[in-house]
Amino acid sequence: MLNLVEKKINEFIDELEYDYIRKLYKKLPSGKKVRSKLILKIANDKRAIDLAAIIEMIHAASLLHDDVIDDADIRRGSPSINALFGNKTAIMLGDILYSKAFFELTKFQPKIAKIVSNAVTLLSIGEMMDVELSKSFNSDIEKYLDMIYKKTASLIEASAKSAAILANKDSKVYELYGKNLGLAFQIVDDILDVISDTKTLGKPAMSDFKEGKTTLPYIYLYNSLDEKNQKRLLSLFKKDLNEKEKMWIKEKMKESGSIEKSKNYAKKLGFEAMKLVKDKELQEIIQNVIERDY
Ligand code: FPP
Ligand code: MG
Repeated sequence: MLNLVEKKINEFIDELEYDYIRKLYKKLPSGKKVRSKLILKIANDKRAIDLAAIIEMIHAASLLHDDVIDDADIRRGSPSINALFGNKTAIMLGDILYSKAFFELTKFQPKIAKIVSNAVTLLSIGEMMDVELSKSFNSDIEKYLDMIYKKTASLIEASAKSAAILANKDSKVYELYGKNLGLAFQIVDDILDVISDTKTLGKPAMSDFKEGKTTLPYIYLYNSLDEKNQKRLLSLFKKDLNEKEKMWIKEKMKESGSIEKSKNYAKKLGFEAMKLVKDKELQEIIQNVIERDY
């Protein structure tokens, strides 16, 4: 089924009748397609494939822009479009994928078009919040949770909710399932930045803190340290860390249990989501998100 989504995206791109876009899109390594898996599990029909293709194109557009904003050279283990062709091309390709996706979205019932378009506004606001929060050390867990809800969970929530509407299922239940899954997904992403390695992740490990992102493990760590060690952590914020400094952070995270606490937070959200759906495969999606190592 996932290859039907990829086929649909290629059809949408072919309709643009510009070979260069096809060439650029081929340079985008395919991702885990969590959003498509979710949509196809909830609503298994032809419209669900179109919806999944639309959501994947929006997601790809947001990552193209995000890599420009984050100045990232690597995405999914390959050079990013901005690294290969420059920022302008990455932004334009994002604009094209995003606007074509919206054009296709207008063919859906207004209720679905509203849910998805509103999620894109939220994810754009979430990205801005992420950039703003990164300007200084954030130790406020509520601000972090609000930002990741908007930046990541909103589109996953919208995917689940709109698929439920397509399939005449209880949209409220799937909305909450998607929200919890999305939050857990981003928290796991933020944990992996600390505990995984560059090769497994397909992007540089331990780079969030250097970029100013005080993710959940850092927030827990900061709030558990004494004044002297809090100062030490603050002195490393946004720095290009050497191995010794990285080790210090990792050791302190282990000692304070902040990685464990972050994992438990993600697990709790996952568990809440699992309780909402009886479908084994939807439960498996959560399990895979929580237990993944990349
Ligand atoms: C990845 O975050 C970024 C997002 C999930 C959202 C980015 C959204 C925008 C740039 C708004 C633009 C929207 C459209 C539709 C054009 P991350 O940097 O924490 O993750 P990463 O480590 O995978 O880069
Ligand atoms: Mg990024």
